[in-house]
Amino acid sequence: MAPWRMAVMLAICIATSALTSAPVFAADESPMPKLDIGKGGKCVDDPKFMRKNHMDVLKHQRDETMRQGIRGGKYSLAACVDCHASKKNNSVLGSNENFCQGCHEYVEVKIDCFECHSSKRKVVAEVSK
Ligand code: HEC
Ligand code: HEC
Ligand code: HEC
Repeated sequence: MAPWRMAVMLAICIATSALTSAPVFAADESPMPKLDIGKGGKCVDDPKFMRKNHMDVLKHQRDETMRQGIRGGKYSLAACVDCHASKKNNSVLGSNENFCQGCHEYVEVKIDCFECHSSKRKVVAEVSK
């Protein structure tokens, strides 16, 4: 191949890679919102594990409850909400600081769980404990 052709191809290559990587850089620059972790204490599992696997363990526990009637498992959605709800509005939703909503807006993954499940801490139960 003639050297000038190589140069043209290289130029095209650099130009397109700059184009395609631009949006990635934009995403990297927008910081992850600071999440309101909620009540504190200890997560039901290692936070690193939870960050990666919470969807699977939640769905697994849901299936066990719905299909086999097994209750009181380790990965209860009600328990996540109870602990992770913000002290400001007692919810895991509401703003980009709220635990489930904040990260999910950031990663752009929709969750429909709270159409049925409560996103609020059971304040009354909490107080009467
Ligand atoms: C008793 C309180 C408590 C319960 C119950 C609890 N968590 Fe956590 N969770 C925490 C705390 C505190 C952290 C932060 C730990 C840290 O960063 O060291 C955390 C961290 C996490 C993280 C990682 C967040 C991040 O920024 O990386 C995820 C995801 C998570 N929890 C999901 C869940 C889910 C889903 C449930 C229910 C199955 C749940 N948690 C139940 C207290 C709890
Ligand atoms: C159409 C309504 C509906 C939707 C949407 C829904 N659930 Fe459920 N879920 C239920 C009902 C009803 C139960 C049974 C409640 C019980 O018997 O305790 C249940 C039970 C569960 C349980 C077991 C009880 C517990 O708290 O441990 C988990 C876990 C669960 N759902 C997770 C989820 C997750 C995660 C999503 C979103 C991906 C979701 N659900 C979406 C209706 C729904
Ligand atoms: C630190 C970030 C983070 C936090 C906090 C977080 N999630 Fe997620 N969640 C994710 C990511 C990322 C995915 C998508 C993972 C994938 O697709 O592989 C996800 C996926 C899910 C899914 C599966 C969605 C689907 O359609 O398959 C459910 C259900 C879910 N999260 C529930 C929750 C609930 C409930 C909370 C609050 C208790 C929560 N998440 C908090 C990052 C987070």
